[in-house]
Amino acid sequence: MNFDTLRYRSGCLELLDQRRLPGNIEYLKLRSAEEVAKAIREMAVRGAPAIGCAAAFGIAVEAMRTRHREGFRGEMEKAFEMLSKSRPTAVNLFWALERMRRILDQVEEQDEVAMLLEKEAESIFEQDIRDNLKMGENGSALVPEKCNILTYCNAGALATAGHGTALGVIRSAASRGKAISVVACETRPFLQGARLTAWELEMESIPATLICDNMAGYLMKKGEIDLVIVGADRVAANGDVANKIGTYTLAVLARRHDIPFHVACPTSTIDPDTPNGEAIPIEERNGSEVRGYNGIEWAATGISVRNPAFDVTPSELVTSLITEKGVIMFPDDKKISALLAS
Ligand code: MRU
Repeated sequence: MNFDTLRYRSGCLELLDQRRLPGNIEYLKLRSAEEVAKAIREMAVRGAPAIGCAAAFGIAVEAMRTRHREGFRGEMEKAFEMLSKSRPTAVNLFWALERMRRILDQVEEQDEVAMLLEKEAESIFEQDIRDNLKMGENGSALVPEKCNILTYCNAGALATAGHGTALGVIRSAASRGKAISVVACETRPFLQGARLTAWELEMESIPATLICDNMAGYLMKKGEIDLVIVGADRVAANGDVANKIGTYTLAVLARRHDIPFHVACPTSTIDPDTPNGEAIPIEERNGSEVRGYNGIEWAATGISVRNPAFDVTPSELVTSLITEKGVIMFPDDKKISALLAS
């Protein structure tokens, strides 16, 4: 990979602006929690683990910016509040903020705590890369020697600190010499598949074909898809999976056609405090994303629009959950709590 999704240089978070991809490689330089929260909300950075890393660095940059001020603790509270409201579904955001909160609460001295917050954010970032590589190793075992894999949205290096979750498994399997080809769904309305996954696969020279989302069933029926691998934004305690809107449709189609449906995510995406999919908050985004793209509107003026950004796939449709701690076949609450305790 010849890009960094995020990189931190003392007091400054540099974010690859994913809204501009694949045409333009531009890094935003962010020096306050407010700027980072805006970048998350407006999808300059997206994908559950990458959002978690960005939020952690958002706290670090804010601590560096305000560490010599009298109102330091108050500024930090505002930073946590802003970042926690940036996007609601990916639990990695809250998981990372909780880790940062523990550090803030432990140390009184401002300079020292700012330095420790920087370190913690860097450690969250590094852990994510390690977890993704391990997930790739664990998930490769489920990938046949020669196969056609359908994936959805972007669960690649761009959605994480590096390597990726679902795309990480594909990357790892390809690097082990497996003859893989990928079908990437374009992923309306934000086109993460067409713009980001296709770009990553092209760069890695992994054979890939782009389809519109509504073509998946046709290809499955024709026997052209061997397995599906997707990422996740939050996995509930019972194994229900929230992921990009349209994932549920694919899971239903995969079951209908007897195709394995795998979900790859680090354990930081599993939320033991959310009992089931019904309890996962689903983000509703602005209707303008459905009416058009990038300033071009094609919908009939005045038509009302829905834009839920995620849906929930019930655990009964999930063949396996691939994590850095291991793979669970047919996940349920017992298997998940055993995994988290391991
Ligand atoms: O709205 P996005 O682009 O943040 O949604 C991303 C997804 O749904 C991904 O599949 C998920 O976060 C997993 S990324 C490793």
